[in-house]
Amino acid sequence: MISYADAVSELFKKKESPPLCLVRTFGCRQNVSDGEKISGLLLSMGFGFTEELSVADIIIYNTCAVRESAESRVFGLLGELKHLKEKNKSLIIGFCGCMADLEHIKDKLKSQYKFVDLFFGTNAIGELPKLLYEHIAKETPALDALVSDVAEIREDIPVKRLSGMKADVPVMYGCDNFCSYCIVPYVRGRERSRSADDIAAEVKELADCGFKEIMLLGQNVNSYGKGLSGEIDFPKLLHRLNKLDGDFKIRFLSSHPKDAGRELIDAIAECERVCKHLHLPIQSGSNRILSEMNRGYTVEQYLETVNYARKIMPGFSFSTDIIVGFPNETYEDFCQTIRVLEQVRFDNIFSFIYSKRKGTKAALLKDKTDKADKSAWFRQLLEKQREIAIENNKRFIGKVLELLVDGESETDGFVSGKSDEFINVTIPGGDKSLIGQRIKVKIVKAGISALEGKLDS
Ligand code: 5AD
Ligand code: SF4
Repeated sequence: MISYADAVSELFKKKESPPLCLVRTFGCRQNVSDGEKISGLLLSMGFGFTEELSVADIIIYNTCAVRESAESRVFGLLGELKHLKEKNKSLIIGFCGCMADLEHIKDKLKSQYKFVDLFFGTNAIGELPKLLYEHIAKETPALDALVSDVAEIREDIPVKRLSGMKADVPVMYGCDNFCSYCIVPYVRGRERSRSADDIAAEVKELADCGFKEIMLLGQNVNSYGKGLSGEIDFPKLLHRLNKLDGDFKIRFLSSHPKDAGRELIDAIAECERVCKHLHLPIQSGSNRILSEMNRGYTVEQYLETVNYARKIMPGFSFSTDIIVGFPNETYEDFCQTIRVLEQVRFDNIFSFIYSKRKGTKAALLKDKTDKADKSAWFRQLLEKQREIAIENNKRFIGKVLELLVDGESETDGFVSGKSDEFINVTIPGGDKSLIGQRIKVKIVKAGISALEGKLDS
């Protein structure tokens, strides 16, 4: 039986050169991973790749809905495609990702962006060849072609990797946590875990191909295994992957503090392939706000995990996500977040001003906190973290760190990489041939956002 992918490549065979696609991804690492699948499918249909809008035959925007700013940006960029479509009627424009799973976005596209040809949600990526075939061959009207939530996991989607040394491997999809500010559970659906056999087979293949770093992905990797038969959970998965042959390290994103207990920390300590760094989003340092956010843990419980990790792995590195200005947050609440920063001394924070997302519980709250206050607190938070990062980074001076060299820095003659602790390290005078290698460097200087190292002989 001929597949939709083959059928699409048949349709394009009439062209002198292969058709070109451009996939533009916005948002988080999960979206980037989805983008690699979209590219993999397009490659299987015979498409070549371009970065230039004007020569592309198909342009796909893989969107993010987590904050309003991301949404507005996509709409701005989508508007720019209108004139391209007017010049080239056969140009195909696709819209997918988290925004495509929201009803009000679909309505907006229908009324204001009628030139969009393909429209599919995060759980319908595997339907791209069918949608494309139907669009080209049968001229299916644009937004009627929406494929709604197809929740089962597809293991047959090809992946076109963006890097030859680092690979993202999703272990679970969706989220059941319903934090009150977050749109993700509404767009990505319920939690589903991949089988440990499928994950191990993919990691083994990547290791055999020479990949040096595997990033396990999930909205909350710590609930990995729920619904699977057999006794498997995330710490057990780490142990299984740790035993595979190859020269690779393991990282993972993201962990939920309510599920990141001692078993997880023990597994990180025991598995030599797992980097000694944990991204553990705290969101707020106020128990009142954490409860309003429906996070399911207290600051005290969070600190217990941090202290346990540092007891068994001194110097262990933490990073976090913080939301400033949740509805009705007070200065007192905010000061408690600053206090947690001082206590934990994160190596890195990713901070965001609260963004109201229609359809979430928090969107129903009447917010009395002043916008200007939120912005001022946000600046104060960044300043505090700057001070902490400068001090924190000094602890590495004179130490030898292992890092995977993954690129050149903007300054000539520098190569750079990330240490196990997920800290940027630059190596002045480092040879480009080091790129792709795991090396040891002695840290000689510490800045705010990067360390400086020299090769340890
Ligand atoms: N407003 C601001 N930040 C948000 N995040 C998720 N939803 C929102 C929102 N509505 C942040 C959280 C999460 C990170 C990925 O994005 O900090 O951990
Ligand atoms: Fe959103 Fe909370 Fe799920 Fe993370 S755990 S994706 S913040 S609902």
